[in-house]
Amino acid sequence: MPAPIESLLPDLHEDTQLVHAGTLRSQFGETSEALFLTQGHIYENAEQCEARFLGEESGFIYARFSNPTVAMFEKRMAAFEGAEAARATATGMAAVTAALTGLLRAGDHVVAARALFGSCRYVIEEHLPRFGVDSTLVNGTELAAWQAAIRPNTKVFFLESPANPTLEVIDIEAVAKLAKSIGAKLVVDNVFATPLWQKPLALGADCVVYSATKHIDGQGRCLGGVILASNEFIQTHIHTFLRQTGPAMSPFNAWVLLKALETLPLRIRRQTGTASILADWLADQGQVRKLIYPGRADHPQAEIVRRQMGGPSTLIALELEGGKAAAFRFLNALKIFRISNNLGDAKSLAVHPATTTHQRFTPEARADMGIGDGLVRLSVGLEHPGDLRADLTRALAAV
Ligand SMILES: Cc1ncc(COP(=O)(O)O)c(C=O)c1O
Repeated sequence: MPAPIESLLPDLHEDTQLVHAGTLRSQFGETSEALFLTQGHIYENAEQCEARFLGEESGFIYARFSNPTVAMFEKRMAAFEGAEAARATATGMAAVTAALTGLLRAGDHVVAARALFGSCRYVIEEHLPRFGVDSTLVNGTELAAWQAAIRPNTKVFFLESPANPTLEVIDIEAVAKLAKSIGAKLVVDNVFATPLWQKPLALGADCVVYSATKHIDGQGRCLGGVILASNEFIQTHIHTFLRQTGPAMSPFNAWVLLKALETLPLRIRRQTGTASILADWLADQGQVRKLIYPGRADHPQAEIVRRQMGGPSTLIALELEGGKAAAFRFLNALKIFRISNNLGDAKSLAVHPATTTHQRFTPEARADMGIGDGLVRLSVGLEHPGDLRADLTRALAAV
C-alpha cells in the first residue's frame, strides 16, 4: 500500500522526500521499509497470472523485472531527481551500459566528453564499436567541439560533470540544447555531483545515470546503479532491455540504499563543507602544484558551477610537485584517508588515478584528459575536518 504522504510529495522538500517517498507498507504496517527477499510472486489463479504478464493488471511478477523493495528505491530516487521514472540496476556500469545500449543501434554514432571514468570510456571506445556504433571523444568543455563532432547518424551525447577524476565541469544546458537541435539524446553521468547538487534533467538532459555505489550508499556497503528519465524514455529505451537482459538490482542492496537515502542530504552537506575547507587550505600549500575544486573561484569553469550546481563537491583533485613518486609518498603517509578507488564514502579515501582507474590509458591519453602522474583524487568523508587536515599535513610533509 502506498503511504498517504505520496500525494503531498511533489510539494515537499528533498529532505522529507528522501525519508518517505516511495514507501510501500505491507499488511503488517511496518514503520521501516521491508526487505522483500523473494525472487518471485504467486497469483490467485491462472487468469491473474496471465493478466500480470499482459500488463493488464499491475503487480509484481519476478525480481529480474521488479521487486517491492527495489520499487521503493526507484520511486524515492525519481522523487529526489524530479524524474517521472527510474530503473535500478546492479551497478553503476550496468546503468551506463543499459542507457547507451538501449538507445543505440548498429550504424549510429555517439559523441562523448573525453574526460570520463575509465569504464565509461571502455564502453564507448571499445564495447559499442563491436556492435557497429561509432564514437567521437571531444573536449567536453568546448561547445564547438561537440558541434564539430556531429554526424548525420549522431544519436547520443554522453558526458560526466564534474568528471572523474579531474573535476572538469561541462555546461549541461548548452550541450542539451545542441543535442535537441539534431534530435540526439543527452545522457549525463551525475555521480560526482549527486542529485543534491545538480539536476541534469532540469537542465535539459534526457536521461541521468548514477552509480549508487558512491554517495547514494555513502557507506561503502553495496553496489548499485539507477537510470532516471521520462516515462516515455524509460518505456521506449530502457524497460524492455533491462527486463530481458537482466542487470537487476538485488532487493537487499535496494534496502541498504533506501536506508542510506534518508541521510544523504546530511552526509553530502557535511562532506561538501569539509571538502571546501580542505580545498582552500590545500591550495595554499607549497607542495601542491595545482588544486582543482569546483567550489573555488579559480576553478576553470567556476561560472558554470555557479549557474548549474547547487553546491560544489565532496571530491578534490590535487596535482603534487614531483609526479608519481611524490604522489605515492603522499598516499603512503596518510593515516585517516585510506587508499581506495571508491568515492562518496563516509570514510575519507584517496587514490592515484594514473595507476588505478585510468591506468589502462597511454600517458598521452591521460594527459589529454588532464590526468598527470602527480594527480591525487581525495574523497572527503564524515570525519572531523581538523583531523583530516592534520592527516593531510602529515602526508604533505612526506612529499
Ligand atoms: C563517474 C562514474 N560512473 C560510473 C561508475 C561505475 O560505478 P559502479 O562501480 O557502481 O559500477 C563510477 C565508479 O567509480 C564512476 O566514478
